[in-house]
Amino acid sequence: MFRRYKITVIGAGATGATTAHLLALKEMGDVVLIDIVEGVPQGRGLDMFESGPIEEFSNTVLGTNDYAATAGSDVIVVTAGMPRKPGMSRNDLLKINADIVHNVVQQATKVSPDAVIVVLTNPADVMAYVAQKASGFGYERVIGQAGVLDSARFRTFLAEALAVSPRDVSAFVMGGHGDDMVPLVRYSYAGGIPVEKLLPQETLEAIVQRTRTGGGEILSLEKASAYYAPASSLAAMVKAVLFDERRILPVIAYLRGEYGQEDIYVGVPAVVGGNGIERVLEVEFSPEEAAAFKRSVQSVREPLSLLGLDQ
Ligand code: APR
Repeated sequence: MFRRYKITVIGAGATGATTAHLLALKEMGDVVLIDIVEGVPQGRGLDMFESGPIEEFSNTVLGTNDYAATAGSDVIVVTAGMPRKPGMSRNDLLKINADIVHNVVQQATKVSPDAVIVVLTNPADVMAYVAQKASGFGYERVIGQAGVLDSARFRTFLAEALAVSPRDVSAFVMGGHGDDMVPLVRYSYAGGIPVEKLLPQETLEAIVQRTRTGGGEILSLEKASAYYAPASSLAAMVKAVLFDERRILPVIAYLRGEYGQEDIYVGVPAVVGGNGIERVLEVEFSPEEAAAFKRSVQSVREPLSLLGLDQ
């Protein structure tokens, strides 16, 4: 018997709700949207479900507060978390979000033991580690989102500078999500032509800088975090898993010696398919890139040790 895929989205906030709607619109499977707040996931889920006749999708969208309704999911997307409030330090938020992610992943994986988990909650490199520990799943079945969004921003700015379609621009970034990310200009192409041959050095440098602060740019304009492109990034990752696409995506993956790093989740290019991370791809670094990647790994190790998760 064939059956539809089932996807659980945890957190019915801005990113979670947008992701759930995109998954339904793209006909990925039946979507369950779950949140701790009563009424919100139910209302948002029903609202999305009612767009089905117009958008012509056949899947169901259900909002709930009950993990029983999420049972048997193929993919679990984790967006649950708290935004930083005035007076709250980064570390306060780190602990709060780690508790939330640990708790929701434990509940969700109890009823969906065969799922692949995709984590968005920030800091995603750290939360991927928390999610793996909470689930007890194999490392390859837990993936963090950061690079798909970062590289989408990089590609957008490159395409804009070149006045070409972003579809023809490939680029990727590595390392931590944030100021330490490593956008790799050397591995970026437009229509197969290295972007270094198409754009002046200073334009490329400005684009790299804008990519690094891409989240902050939106935050300063909107006074709220980005969620459209983050949701698109999650939907692309879900699709790569459900349809075993084996796409090469920059994602947060567990390293066991690749890039000289052990026991850490960090942004690297990887093949994403039905098993989650099919394999991590190793690229050669210039000395500056290697130094930037090392810094970025360090910025993930510090919060892990604050949470007592380092060994
Ligand atoms: N269980 C389920 N849902 C929870 C829980 C929990 N224990 N704790 C919080 N949530 C829900 C909130 O009720 C809220 O609806 O998570 C949702 C988060 O949504 P938003 O605050 O709108 O945040 P969003 O912009 O979607 O970003 C999601 O990603 O960037 C990270 O860390 C950031 O926490 C943020 C997350």
